[in-house]
Amino acid sequence: MKPPNSLLCFLWCVLLLGVGSLLLLVHLQHLTDSVPQQNTGVPVLEAPEWPMEKPPVAARQANDIPAGLFPMSPPILRLCSDPLVGIKQPVTKRRRKQLLKSALSGGEESLQQRRTQESRRHLLTATCSRFHPVHRIWRATLQQVSRIYVEDRFRLLYCEVPKAACSNWKRVLMVLGGRAHSIQDIPHDMAHYSNQLRRLDSYDQAGIAERLRSYTKVLFAREPFERLVSAFRDKFESPNSYYHAVFGRSIISRYRANATGSALKTGAGVTFREFVQYLLDVHRPVGMDIHWEQVSKLCSPCVIPYNFIGKFESLEEDANFLLHSIGAPDNITFPDFKDRNPLEERTSSRIAREYFSQLNGTERQKVFEFYYRDYLMFSYPKPFPDLH
Ligand SMILES: *[C@@H]1O[C@H](CO)[C@@H](O)[C@H](O)[C@H]1NC(C)=O
Ligand SMILES: *[C@@H]1O[C@H](CO)[C@@H](O)[C@H](O)[C@H]1NC(C)=O
Ligand SMILES: *[C@@H]1O[C@H](CO)[C@@H](O)[C@H](O)[C@H]1NC(C)=O
Repeated sequence: MKPPNSLLCFLWCVLLLGVGSLLLLVHLQHLTDSVPQQNTGVPVLEAPEWPMEKPPVAARQANDIPAGLFPMSPPILRLCSDPLVGIKQPVTKRRRKQLLKSALSGGEESLQQRRTQESRRHLLTATCSRFHPVHRIWRATLQQVSRIYVEDRFRLLYCEVPKAACSNWKRVLMVLGGRAHSIQDIPHDMAHYSNQLRRLDSYDQAGIAERLRSYTKVLFAREPFERLVSAFRDKFESPNSYYHAVFGRSIISRYRANATGSALKTGAGVTFREFVQYLLDVHRPVGMDIHWEQVSKLCSPCVIPYNFIGKFESLEEDANFLLHSIGAPDNITFPDFKDRNPLEERTSSRIAREYFSQLNGTERQKVFEFYYRDYLMFSYPKPFPDLH
């Protein structure tokens, strides 16, 4: 009797899978065997963990590779390098001393910090493989590197996440690069608009690929609800000619019944609830904005293998550990000032809760889903017990 077609197909699949895994295993073995033992004199602190660093076997099939421009570094190259330094770092005498010093004297605190980084990378990896289990992306597009700032002296790539201390990061980058002497002296507008910092997408293809391969890649995340409330307070609760005119006016005219003529004209006075209605609307009357765009979209952390994942909640600690790791001068420390609306209280979890309590449960759930990837990727706990 002829077995049914589905059974035959099933058997074939099993057979193919078996052969496939065998080939993969052999290939992996081969890769491990052929890793050259590098001896650069740099203390090897830990091997970076990243989904991108698994051998690109699957991605070798041409149709799996999306139309990106910049191949990520092959896995082998990074196995022996310090994740916070990057492999091509020229090892000067001074630098070797610094590295040794940080490896030896770092003590408990820096060990703890390194473990924290390891676990954050690990979690991000797990989340990425959950969202891109098959179509693992191996190449970054120009758009995906467009929010990344470059600091060549200390070989740093910083992905800008607004509302997570990005002005202060830009100041630090300017001082690190020798473009300013003191962090405190750089006014807000200069940090953002003086064009002193170059973005990664402004380099040619080889320049981008080399920097992506060998520089320390950094991003700082923030609890998504707090980041959203912080953006709302900053852009809608204080006078702001751009955000009120562009976003405020269309938000009020779309979501407020019986808006007054003056509200429609100025766009001032958007409520948090109206703002959230706009955010959740699939037919938004105006587009998204970097201040409330998800970090997973701004920085593409499943494509770009960030070495360092900082958090706004432990900003000073994380930032100073990073600065120390890259060998920044001791007198450069991360500033702790708030320069937008300095008289207003900083958005805290308490303040965020107050704003979110203006929404009903369905709306909160939808905002949570909107930022769900950010919650998972950066392992923030759910902010309200009724969310699921
Ligand atoms: C740090 O110290 C160096 C020399 O010791 C000095 O040239 C530089 O301006 C200082 N930087 C800051 C930010 O204070
Ligand atoms: C808007 O105004 C109309 C007429 O003045 C009134 O009937 C209606 O209830 C108002 N709607 C709201 C939501 O206030
Ligand atoms: C919550 O508010 C939305 C409007 O944004 C409304 O459509 C929905 O019915 C409300 N849900 C509950 C449970 O009150």
